[in-house]
Amino acid sequence: MSLEIPSPRGLLIDGEWLAADRMTTLYSPYDGAAIAEVPQAGAAEVSRAVAAARDALRADRFDRATRIAVLDAAVEGLGRRKEEFARTIAVECAKPIRTARLEAERTIDTFSFAAAEARTYTGDMVPLDAAASGQGKVAFTLRVPVGVVAAIAPFNFPLNLVAHKVAPAIAVGCPVVLKPASQTPLSSLLLAELLLDAGLPPGWLNVVPGGGAEVGDALVREPDVAYVTFTGSPGVGWGIAARAPKKKVRLELGSNAPLIVDADSDWETAAVKAASAGFVQAGQSCVSTQRIYVHAAVAARFREALVAGVAGLKVGDPLAEDVDVSALISAKDALRVESWIGEAIGGGARADIGGERIGNVVTPAVLSDVTATMRVQAEEIFGPVVTLTEFADFDTALDLANDSRYGLNAGVYTNDIGKALKTVRRLEFGSVYVNDVPTVRADQQPYGGVKDSGNTREGPRYAMAEMTEPRLVTLR
Ligand code: SIN
Repeated sequence: MSLEIPSPRGLLIDGEWLAADRMTTLYSPYDGAAIAEVPQAGAAEVSRAVAAARDALRADRFDRATRIAVLDAAVEGLGRRKEEFARTIAVECAKPIRTARLEAERTIDTFSFAAAEARTYTGDMVPLDAAASGQGKVAFTLRVPVGVVAAIAPFNFPLNLVAHKVAPAIAVGCPVVLKPASQTPLSSLLLAELLLDAGLPPGWLNVVPGGGAEVGDALVREPDVAYVTFTGSPGVGWGIAARAPKKKVRLELGSNAPLIVDADSDWETAAVKAASAGFVQAGQSCVSTQRIYVHAAVAARFREALVAGVAGLKVGDPLAEDVDVSALISAKDALRVESWIGEAIGGGARADIGGERIGNVVTPAVLSDVTATMRVQAEEIFGPVVTLTEFADFDTALDLANDSRYGLNAGVYTNDIGKALKTVRRLEFGSVYVNDVPTVRADQQPYGGVKDSGNTREGPRYAMAEMTEPRLVTLR
């Protein structure tokens, strides 16, 4: 794998690139090659970054027209530098280059939608005069920025999930202190460079990379942080919410997304799509298709088509143009996925294909005969594994899909409108897709989950609503 990624210029605090006392070497998850030397922030840098953000907000010199101009310029810059971003993503998180290009393109969408929303978002007129006490009054709400935003980002979409926090914050005028995932700081630092070039004034985006929990904990403790946006694991996310009860803590967490395939459906298409949807970026997406429930009448043919599709996936170097599946983010994760597969097989499951670990790569696996309590079924595997469970009755399939502590995205294939409507009413998920897999997200949609999957909706318009407070104004 040829890397050619320039090392970052430093930590970004108050518009300046600062040298750090500590540096760490970043290694490729795919082949262990050294990628870059990355500056590491500590608690002191976090405090400086938060102070810079607070001062930028207080100075109040980033008006809406300028914010729109910055977002527009970011769209232009991302378009021009798309390939550079795609390569950076591919190298730092071992995302196959074609998938990394899609992420870079989606990031352009995210900034474009934030720019569009920034042009029009507004408060509401409030009809106070509808009650006797309000006679003679005019009332409306202003949407005011909530304050300094602490953004804690995951490794799996190191550019676009950062964009989903930074672009809406710029749109509404909230300064951000960003902690990228420790394995994937390069896309964030490159985006920060691009935003400075786009005209972002000092203090409005500060980037403090760091390993372990030190930087994240320091950020969450900072009294001047008003809003925490976190994407990652439920344990960490709910822990932040518990430690910061007076802050607005918004969580986008995991899932073990179900796909229901009924007998009276286009199950062939479902099989083809599932052969990709369970394995994109090695299953390391919160909406990776994981639990497939297929009607017994078509189960054998569905399995055959799915396994044939999975057999066609090319595994290897993320920078190779024809590769579909590459490494997991770390050796620890590859070993974890291997052990969960082993535990399932030890408990009576069968691997229809795949499941071998070669270094940090796990070959795409389809498991049958799983039970509800096996971790490959009950937990979020975040690896290239799907499970197949047969059902005889559609209502049972809905119950099985709901039988999870998660509730992010779900998909159902059926040609029966009655079943489709029943599904969208009965499934307890943030999004329910009819005749599609759950591994889908348009960047303007409300995206987020219920239960252990989180407590928010991202997507520029929805994140902007979360990052602002309605301030009521009355005139008499
Ligand atoms: C995620 O893994 O939470 C994001 C999925 C996506 O944006 O496609």
